[in-house]
Formats: sequence, structure tokens, C-alpha cells
Amino acid sequence: MIKAIRGTRDLLPPDTALWDFVESTAREVFRAYNFQEIRTPIFEATELFARGVGEETDIVSKEMFTWEDRGRAASDKSQSLTLRPEATAGIVRAYIEHGLEKRGLNKLFCIGPMFRRERPQKGRYRQFYQIDAEVIGPASSGSDSPARDAEILEMLATLLDRLGITDWNLELNSVGCPNDRAKFNEALRAALEPVKDKMCGDCQRRAVTNPLRVFDCKVPEDQPIIDKLPRISQFLDEPCREHFEAVKSILQAVGIEFHINDRLVRGLDYYTRTAFEFTHGALGAQNAILGGGRYDGLSEAIGGPPAPGIGFAIGEDRLVLSLQEKQSAESIAPKPDAYIAPLGAGMNREAARLARELRRQDLVIDLGDENFRLKKSFETATKAGAKYILIVGENEVKADSFALKNLATGEQISVPRAEVARAIRS
Ligand code: HAM
Repeated sequence: MIKAIRGTRDLLPPDTALWDFVESTAREVFRAYNFQEIRTPIFEATELFARGVGEETDIVSKEMFTWEDRGRAASDKSQSLTLRPEATAGIVRAYIEHGLEKRGLNKLFCIGPMFRRERPQKGRYRQFYQIDAEVIGPASSGSDSPARDAEILEMLATLLDRLGITDWNLELNSVGCPNDRAKFNEALRAALEPVKDKMCGDCQRRAVTNPLRVFDCKVPEDQPIIDKLPRISQFLDEPCREHFEAVKSILQAVGIEFHINDRLVRGLDYYTRTAFEFTHGALGAQNAILGGGRYDGLSEAIGGPPAPGIGFAIGEDRLVLSLQEKQSAESIAPKPDAYIAPLGAGMNREAARLARELRRQDLVIDLGDENFRLKKSFETATKAGAKYILIVGENEVKADSFALKNLATGEQISVPRAEVARAIRS
């Protein structure tokens, strides 16, 4: 028996109804903020992620599914390709490649699978789904304004509320600009120098190559050392400080609660200024249901024009897990309005006609087979969760009036063809 690969999952009904609910609610909310959908490829040049997300990040250094693609002809040069571990780099690439700024397309969202070779556990998979949204554009479009940061955060709060997830916690930080980062890295290197030998192998390497990434460390023994390190908040220059103050002040004005977490640096190198995560208690260790932030230098890092941006990605798998605590998938899974049971030879034709008429009136119809005995039709209809069973036998066809039985109450009536849809609806 061939099974699904570790870290991948089949999403089955009725759970898929919850996924559908999450995605359709997200689409509705995004529409209200004037976001439009973009769909980018599942794989991209490896270099896009190396330059965008950063060589030293866990994602790029350990977790990517990468292969050398040979091309088809012997003369073709091979190219390193990678299954996308996140959506932002690909969206920014598409924004540059298609000159989207000229078309005023600066608010984009994307829903789809991402791939990271992580150790699978509850809420952490190797193929997982993100709902990602980005605001990007030349500074003249206001894309660098703190108003955008606050708008994105307020939109997320609205979306979570609309989904019925109220007990979230917004953690907020500013990771400053490259200027601040240079000074911070210097201070971090100095602080790490005397203690780094006591830290894990990854941290010893990060201390030299990219000290900020030390804050990604999950090794318990390293945490007391990390707790004593300097924080980026001490190194923000005046414009970054003002930007962060403005974000916080708008959030207060619109009534969005947040907690400052000055250890939050996020696991991707492209972040500048505002960085955030929404956590949810029910999830245990993998408690971040979404993360995001500003990335004012990303476009230039991958060869584009200056284009400040901010965005987020919701971990849809985790969001659905926290929804399952509150709402059973069964209760929102779609059920047939009626099951049509053709009874006896030749009745499949008549049943198909009636099913077509009813489906065209937007009813959900499940259809049986003339070879089923009535008992089997009843069992099938009940298993499918149909509200009614509609019997199509020779007598019914002659009278052009059909037996309609309510499966919950057992009440049965005979309904003329033209009245069937209305009877089912009532
Ligand atoms: P990220 O924090 O790496 O950010 O991922 C965002 C969310 O995706 C996480 O908070 C989590 O809910 C979910 N996630 C990540 N890895 C896994 C996994 N292995 N299994 C299940 N869920 C997972 C980004 O990806 C950025 N691109 C977000 C962003 C958009 N920043 C700016 N724009």
C-alpha cells in the first residue's frame, strides 16, 4: 500500500468545508480592502529565495526542497529550482517582472501550498497552506506609510473576528532599517563573543555570519544567554522610531490590542521596521497562526526598483486547527437537499430529467440508480445526510407528481413536478 509522504496530508470532507469557509471569508474581507488575487508558480529559481529570504535563515539553509533541473536537451544548462517555502519572494518577483506598479496593482493576495522540510508534528507539515497578502509599490504610492502597517493589522483582526477566532494575541516589534541593523549586529557580535562557545552549533555559526538569527534559536539551554542579549529596540534611529510610534498610535485609535515583544525578529531576513505575529493559545508549541512584517528592501535585493512593502501569511492549517476547537466541520459541511430514488426499470431517465430541473433551480441533488431497492435508496439518502428523498417510479411519472418524504420527520406528501423545488425549500 502506497501512503502519503510524511509531512503531507490529505484534506478530507467534512474538514474541507472548514477550509472552504476560511478561504471564502478571507476573499470577502480582502475584497473590502481592495486586494486582488495573484497566483504564482509553485517552484521558482532557488536564487530567488536565497537572495530574498536569506542564505542564513533556517528556511533557506535547512528546509527547502531543491533540485537541479537538467532541461530536456543535452545542451540545456541545468538550473537549481526550489518548491516555494513562502509566497512573498515570488509575489515581489512577479510584481517586478510584470511592472505591476504601472498598472496600480499594489495590493495582492495569494492562497496555496508552501513546502518546508521541517520535522512534522501537530501544526507543522512539509506541505502546508498559506493565505498571503502583500501591499507593495513605490514610496510615492504610500506603501512605506505606517498607515499601511496599521491597515494590514486591522484587516487581520477583522478577518479573525469574522472567522469566530477572538482569543488571539498580536505580538509586535520593529526590527529597524539596515542602518540600525548594522549597529545592532555589531553590538550583538560583541555580546556574543564571550558566550558563544557555550551555545549550540547553529548559534556559534550565526554569531559570526548573521547574529540577528540567534533569536531564532529554540534550544532551551541557549535561552538564558539570549535573554541577556541587547535588543533591536535600543538601536532604532529616529525615523524608524517615529514610524513604529505612528503604527502603534493608529492601532490604539482603531482599538486593536497588541503586545510589544522585542525578541520578535521573525525567521526571514527581508524584514525591516514593523514585524508581527498573531498567536493562539489552543495550538500548543506551534502557536503562531500567522506572521508578517514590512520588507522595504526586498524588491531591490532581488533586482527590482525601490518598492517598500508589507504583508503577512496566515498558516491555514493552524487556523483550521484553532477553528476546529470551536466549530465542527460536520455542522457546516454541505448536505444534499434531496436524494432522488429512481424505482424500477427505465426510471434513471426520468430521475435524470427531474434532477436536472431541480439543480437548475440551485438545489443540491444526489441521484441514485433504478437498480437500487427502495431500502437501499433510503439508506444511501440517510448516509448522505439528505433532507428529503424523492421517489421516481412508474406511477409518479404517469401522474407527473412525485413522492417527497422528509427523512427527519418521516412525513410524506405527493408533489406535482412544478411544485417540487418549492416544497423542498419550504
Ligand atoms: P512565516 O512566519 O515563515 O512567514 O510563515 C507564516 C505562517 O505560516 C506561520 O505563522 C505559520 O502559521 C505558517 N507555517 C509556517 N511554516 C509552517 C509549517 N511547516 N507547517 C504549517 N504551517 C506553517 C512567511 O512565510 C512570510 N512570507 C510572511 C510574510 C508575508 N511576510 C511578509 N509578507
